[in-house]
Amino acid sequence: MPSLALLVDLFISTRATHSPPSTPPYCYLENLRAGSVGSAVAYSLLLRQVVADIVLIDINHDLCRAQVQDLSDATFLSNVRIRQGTLEDAQKADIIIITAGAKQKPGDTRLALVDRNFKVLKSILQSLQPIRSDAILLIVANPVDILTLFAQRLSGLPKGQVLGSGTLLDSIRLTRILASKLKVADTSIHAFVIGEHGDSQSVAWSTATVHGTPLLKVLPLTEAERDEIATTTKKKAEAIIKVKGFTSYGVAAVTARICEAIIFDHRQVLPLSHWQKEWDCCLSLPAVLGRDGIISSFPLSLNESEQAFLSSSAQSLKKVIAEYAEEL
Ligand SMILES: NC(=O)c1ccc[n+]([C@@H]2O[C@H](COP(=O)([O-])OP(=O)(O)OC[C@H]3O[C@@H](n4cnc5c(N)ncnc54)[C@H](O)[C@@H]3O)[C@@H](O)[C@H]2O)c1
Ligand SMILES: *[C@@H]1O[C@H](CO)[C@@H](O)[C@H](O)[C@H]1NC(C)=O
Repeated sequence: MPSLALLVDLFISTRATHSPPSTPPYCYLENLRAGSVGSAVAYSLLLRQVVADIVLIDINHDLCRAQVQDLSDATFLSNVRIRQGTLEDAQKADIIIITAGAKQKPGDTRLALVDRNFKVLKSILQSLQPIRSDAILLIVANPVDILTLFAQRLSGLPKGQVLGSGTLLDSIRLTRILASKLKVADTSIHAFVIGEHGDSQSVAWSTATVHGTPLLKVLPLTEAERDEIATTTKKKAEAIIKVKGFTSYGVAAVTARICEAIIFDHRQVLPLSHWQKEWDCCLSLPAVLGRDGIISSFPLSLNESEQAFLSSSAQSLKKVIAEYAEEL
């Protein structure tokens, strides 16, 4: 099949129907930043053949070129094309992934990055204009919930098309712990970390299930055990950063999963950072993800104390957002 014709056909068919195309979609993807996270994201996207074209952009041109050269040695596995690009390439991109920005130093909270990364995000979004009206903007840089809201305000795109990787990574970390305790596959467990991808996150224990059976029935954890698991989950990035300076593989795999769900219009329910009407901020709750981005929020019946935790997570995010009211 000629790949150029496929570009248009498959692109239209993934939008028009819910059935996944039988061949890799010939979509175009732009990955802003060739640092640790950006390059790992590119690597997982090309290994999984999520897209046909990957473009990497970084203000550090030499690093970006070297990353592209290195990554191009892996493309023989999948025939995905990868190249270095410029912000003008964004006009052709189906998905724009923003991983640009400062990362936490050991001991930093994610919220401490907001000042620096707001400036980076703002300058990128200005240079991206005019942005394709059906592009999906995926925010990975931290603090991801705050930056997702800022990107919604600054990009002019419909809110559903601007989302953050949120607590999908945290939920996967949690699921791994639970699955290893139960000796079942991760995919048999449905458990969500909700709220901020950061310190105010919480686990929605009451809604967690193992193939439909309440998790706490199959795995009766005491409150202390639950707290310990939640803390290990929350502190995992910190523990890794303390030793290797950054995290990249997990977030890269998660980003590939998100792009897959968008491009193939999977309608998968994933905990992602998206706009919450109740609080006018972005935080993670399960959402249905498809070609148009966030299709809808998926209702989660939290108990009273879980709802209170979620609310306080929203309030702590809103406090930070309020400081930027004049710049948005
Ligand atoms: N959401 C998550 O789950 C998650 C997980 C890990 C890391 N992160 C975040 O991802 C971000 C990147 O982390 P990293 O480890 O790759 O950092 P890194 O320092 O390796 O890469 C950052 C890169 O951004 C580039 N950059 C800075 N300003 C830019 C601009 N205006 N345009 C283009 N490029 C620009 C720099 O040149 C640098 O190469 C951080 O904010 C980190 O906190 C998020
Ligand atoms: C709600 O769920 C939490 C665990 O997330 C639990 O600790 C708490 O006891 C539950 N509250 C009620 C009222 O059931």
